[in-house]
Amino acid sequence: MLLKWTPLMELGINEIDAQHRFLFELLNCVHEASDQGDPERTKQLLEELGKHTEIHFGHEEDLMADCNYAGAEAHRQEHRKLFLQVADYIDELNAGRLVASSVALFMQRWMLHHMATADRELCAMLSHREARVLGR
Ligand SMILES: [Fe+2]
Repeated sequence: MLLKWTPLMELGINEIDAQHRFLFELLNCVHEASDQGDPERTKQLLEELGKHTEIHFGHEEDLMADCNYAGAEAHRQEHRKLFLQVADYIDELNAGRLVASSVALFMQRWMLHHMATADRELCAMLSHREARVLGR
């Protein structure tokens, strides 16, 4: 299922929003490649998605560490759980028991939920902190 990015998904921290948006674009590309029956391209895009998801999680985790965020450990655990779950799905995919679009759909749903909860909380704290630093 292709998912269009909307401003409602923005959390107010530009770099995080840009990274989320890019991950959604990659997820849409996985769907398209999978629908077009192009396994090589699909595999390549899933690898790219994994790489960029890792970079993005690392970025959020660095931000949390920089400001001693109280919810950092729980948030990090959510990231780790996603990686473990996706690794299982990739094994299923490689064994031919799953299609790539199912992996992409799972990740879309996970992202939407994670963005609306853990990431929203993190970004609210970062926005608040930024406003304090700028004396707003
Ligand atoms: Fe996150």
